[in-house]
Amino acid sequence: MLISKTKEWSNLQAHCKQMQNVKMKELFNNDKERFAKFSLQFNNILFDYSKNIIDDSTIKLLLELAHSTNLKSKIKQMFTGKKINTTENRAVLHTALRNRNSKPVVVDGEDIMPEINNVLDKMETFVEKIHDGEYLGATGKKITTIVNIGIGGSDLGPMMVCQALEYYKVKDINSYFVSNVDGADIANVLKKINPETSLFIIASKTFTTQETMANALAAKKFMVSKLGDSADIIAKHFVALSTNINECKKFGIDEKNIFTFWDWVGGRYSLWSSIGLSIALSIGMNNFEELLTGGYDMDKHFKNADFKNNIPVLMALLGIWYNNFFNAKTLAVIPYCHYLRRFPTFLQQMDMESNGKYITKGNEKVDYNTGPVIWGEAGTNAQHSFFQLIHQGTQMIPVDFISFIANLDGDAKQHNMLLSNFFAQTEALMKGKTEYEVRDELLKENKTEDEINHILPHKVFEGNKPSNTILIDKLTPYTLGMLIAMYEHKVFVQGAIWNVNQFDQWGVELGKQLAKNILSELNSDTTITTHDCSTNALINYCKEKR
Ligand code: F6P
Repeated sequence: MLISKTKEWSNLQAHCKQMQNVKMKELFNNDKERFAKFSLQFNNILFDYSKNIIDDSTIKLLLELAHSTNLKSKIKQMFTGKKINTTENRAVLHTALRNRNSKPVVVDGEDIMPEINNVLDKMETFVEKIHDGEYLGATGKKITTIVNIGIGGSDLGPMMVCQALEYYKVKDINSYFVSNVDGADIANVLKKINPETSLFIIASKTFTTQETMANALAAKKFMVSKLGDSADIIAKHFVALSTNINECKKFGIDEKNIFTFWDWVGGRYSLWSSIGLSIALSIGMNNFEELLTGGYDMDKHFKNADFKNNIPVLMALLGIWYNNFFNAKTLAVIPYCHYLRRFPTFLQQMDMESNGKYITKGNEKVDYNTGPVIWGEAGTNAQHSFFQLIHQGTQMIPVDFISFIANLDGDAKQHNMLLSNFFAQTEALMKGKTEYEVRDELLKENKTEDEINHILPHKVFEGNKPSNTILIDKLTPYTLGMLIAMYEHKVFVQGAIWNVNQFDQWGVELGKQLAKNILSELNSDTTITTHDCSTNALINYCKEKR
C-alpha cells in the first residue's frame, strides 16, 4: 500500500491544514523553552530544528509515520547486510567500510570485515610510501601530484572531502579532479602538471564509464607522449580503484596498484572505500581513518538513538513534512564555511540519485513527492545571489544552515562576521519584518507619507520560512565524517518512508544508451533520420557546420 493511503499520512494532512496559518514567531513568543525542546546535541554537533513550522503534535505525528513504515527494522536490515537494493539484488554496506570495531558483518554467509581491513592496510602502505618518497615515478622522482579521474560518486565524494579538508593537507601533495568528458577538463589539468611527478588515480566502480575511460585514455596518451611508451610508465603512474579487476589489468595497471571494493558499495556512498584513496593521499591515512570514525560514530547514533532523539531521523521527517505536506519542492543547503562550498553539489548526487524515483519497492507509482531538488552555495556568497528568492519569493524553500564555531584560518573577528550572518539569516527567515516595523523605520528616516506608501510593501518580509541549523565545534576529518553520514542516513530514512529503492539509478541509463547511438552517428558521414525531427535536425546542423 502506498504510504499516502495510511491513516498516519491523513493525520499529517489534517494537521498540516491547522499549521498553515501558524506563525513561528508566535510559537517562539509563547514558549521560551522552544529551543531546548526542539534541538539535539550529539558529540560536537548541535542540531537546532526549532525554527520550523512545527509543534509537539507535528513531531508526534511524524514519528508515528516513521514507526508505521517499520523504519527500525529497515535500518537493521541495512546494517546487517540484507539485500535491500532489490532491483540489483545487492546488500548496501557502506556502513561496514567505516565499522571501527571488529565485529563481523556478514554478506552471503561471509564476514566482509577482513577484506575491508586488508584494503585499508594496503591503502595505508601505499600512502606512506608515496609520502615518504619510497614510491617513485618511472624516472625516479617523488610523486607530488595526484589526479583523480572519475565521475559521479567516484569524483564528487573524494573531491568534496579533499576540498573540505584542505586545511589538513599533507605538504607537497597537490590534487586535481577530472570528471567531465568535455576534453577541456583533462586538458587544463595536463597543462599544469609535471608527468614525472604525477600519479593518475582511475576511480571507477565499473571501470567502463564512458567519461572516465575517455579521460583515463587521454591521460595515458599524455604520459606516453611525455615519458615514452613503456609498460613501466603505466605501471608506475596509474593506479585503479575499482570492483572490475580484469578491466584494470587490461588497461595496464599493475595488480599491486589496484585497490578494490565491492558491489555492495553504491557509487554515491563510496568515498569511505578505496575510492577515498585521493583523500588519504591528500590528508594522510590517520586523518582518513578519523573521517571513517566520524561516520562510524554517527552510525551508532542513528542505529541506537530512539527516533525522537535521532538527528538523521528528525531531519528526514522534517524534510517529509515540507516536501509532502507543504509541497515544498526543494531544499537549500547553505554551508557557512568556504571549505564546504562543494558540499551541496555532493549532496545533490547523494540525495537526488537516491530518492529521485516514482516507482515504489512494491512496483506502484507514487502519488506523492519523493526526492526534493537539492541546491545551495556557500554563505555568505549565497546571500548576495539567490537569498532574495528565499526571503521574498513565492515558494517555500526550507534551508539547512551549516557552520562551525571555531575558525581554521583568518582571524576571529572575520569569523564572527561569518557567524553573525549565519545566525542573522536563520532569524530573518523565521521572523520576517512586519508592515508596522517597516513604517516605523521609514518614519525614523523622515520619509513622507507618499514615499512610505510607495516603498512599504516591498520592504515587508512575511517571514515564517523554515530552517534547520547545524552548528559544529570545528571542521575536522572526524566532524566531516559525522556530517556526511548524518545526511546519508537522512536520505535513507526518507527513501525508506517513501518506499523507493534508493540504491539503484536506472534513470541515468536511458541518456547513456542514446548517447552511444548518437556518438556513432556524429562520427558518420550520412544524414541522420533515426530520431524525432528536433534531434535529427540538431545533429545534422552540427555535422554541417563542422
Ligand atoms: O551516474 C551513474 C553512476 O552509476 C553513479 O551512480 C556513479 O557514481 C557514476 O555513474 C560513476 O560510475 P563508476 O564509478 O562505475 O565509473
